[in-house]
Amino acid sequence: MDEIEWWEFDTPAEMAEQAAGDIGFVIESAIAAHGGARIALPGGSTPKPIFKALLKSKTIAWPKVTIVPTDDRLVPLADPLSNYRMLEATFRPVGADVISLVDEAALRDSAEAGRLADARLALLQWPLDLVCLGMGADGHTASIFPGPDLDKALSGPRERRAVGVRPDPLPPEAPVERVTLTAAAIISARAIMIAISGPEKRRVLEQAIQEGPLSKAPIGRLIGEIETAIDILWSAQ
Ligand code: 6PG
Repeated sequence: MDEIEWWEFDTPAEMAEQAAGDIGFVIESAIAAHGGARIALPGGSTPKPIFKALLKSKTIAWPKVTIVPTDDRLVPLADPLSNYRMLEATFRPVGADVISLVDEAALRDSAEAGRLADARLALLQWPLDLVCLGMGADGHTASIFPGPDLDKALSGPRERRAVGVRPDPLPPEAPVERVTLTAAAIISARAIMIAISGPEKRRVLEQAIQEGPLSKAPIGRLIGEIETAIDILWSAQ
């Protein structure tokens, strides 16, 4: 594990400004370095002000940006639960290319959905320039959840970039099967950022970091494998 740097903010708005600045810097550096930026962004509520702040940028060449969800729910792409739908509606209007992890031909078979997502991701250039992660209060990140598929997502074949998972228990806010970037895909990124809010999530994340690879929290096991620096942005509210 390389270094972890915490960045603390009093409000989500302050965290959003800083996160948007950091993400914008990674995007513009990637475009300058290799002609395009490939980033993974999370679903959930925490990132929404970050995306809003990011869209205020006057200098990002969005048509050169490819966005992948860090994970998605196994639902039709027009379903309100779809992270692809949210990211597409947010970033397609400015010209970014948003890739879906979910192929609607495999909505009833998470393993097949994972295989199809992995094939789609193989068409991108790797590694990603940035993976931005959220975290649930149970210590999941992306859709790396406790359950029968946890080890497949955390320590499957290194070449797998996406897998289908059946969280157990199903998360109440979106009680459906998932497709997620694997730990290997996340760890390979050139930059990794985690954005969380509130004292409870801070406690969960600090404990998970301390426990490392033996943590019961998926994010602890993930962070225990990461070699590059991690920026953790935390808003007190
Ligand atoms: C998703 C996300 C998930 C999210 C956490 C935190 O599909 O919901 O990718 O990993 O980041 O559940 O969500 P909140 O930011 O809404 O607390």
